Amino acid sequence: MRDGELSAHPDRMRWNAKYEAAGQPEFMPHPLVEWALSEELPDGPVLDLACGPSGSALRFAAEGRAVTAVDVSEVALRLLRHEARRRGLSGRIAIVQADLATWRPSVGDEYAVVLCAGFWDVRVFGPAIEAVRPGGLVLWEAFTGEARRRRPSLPAEWCLGEDEPASLLPERFSTVLQQDLSDQGKRRFAARSA
Ligand SMILES: C[S@@+](CC[C@H](N)C(=O)[O-])C[C@H]1O[C@@H](n2cnc3c(N)ncnc32)[C@H](O)[C@@H]1O
Repeated sequence: MRDGELSAHPDRMRWNAKYEAAGQPEFMPHPLVEWALSEELPDGPVLDLACGPSGSALRFAAEGRAVTAVDVSEVALRLLRHEARRRGLSGRIAIVQADLATWRPSVGDEYAVVLCAGFWDVRVFGPAIEAVRPGGLVLWEAFTGEARRRRPSLPAEWCLGEDEPASLLPERFSTVLQQDLSDQGKRRFAARSA
């Protein structure tokens, strides 16, 4: 259940309205997920941040991974919960309604994959990558300055800086994929922990 602070949260209200208007999602996994599944991965669970009605969470769960899926929108999470139940995957997906500005992985939690697609907040990145286990991957996709040039109303703090997120990585990480999708004003990124 959401706490009192979330009830008036602007992101929650905005995204609930979007998901209500959009109807039934297609539950497509993010392309980074298919890429990651073709790579070597350590054992362990997956963390999907700003998950939405996540085809990615479902895909990892279908591969036998335990998934923690976090989002502020209970509409998105309800869609995910129903689809997970329909596919017999409920037992593998822990659904968490929370504001990523304050939610943090529990101390000692380690994930084989931390995924975040369609969301950027520099304050979320550090704690997220701290939770990647040795050999694991962080997968991220977010808007760049290019998106902001096209849509000046887009807040700067929602967009990756020139060299981000690579420039924010601690030494134990190596960038293994970086692709600027200029037609979408987004950067797709993956890094592996030593
Ligand atoms: C563009 S959608 C991306 C959804 C999914 N990751 C995908 O790739 O399809 C952005 C998601 O971020 C979530 N979100 C926005 N602000 C948030 C916040 N402060 N805390 C947690 N989730 C948030 C929204 O509810 C929405 O599901």
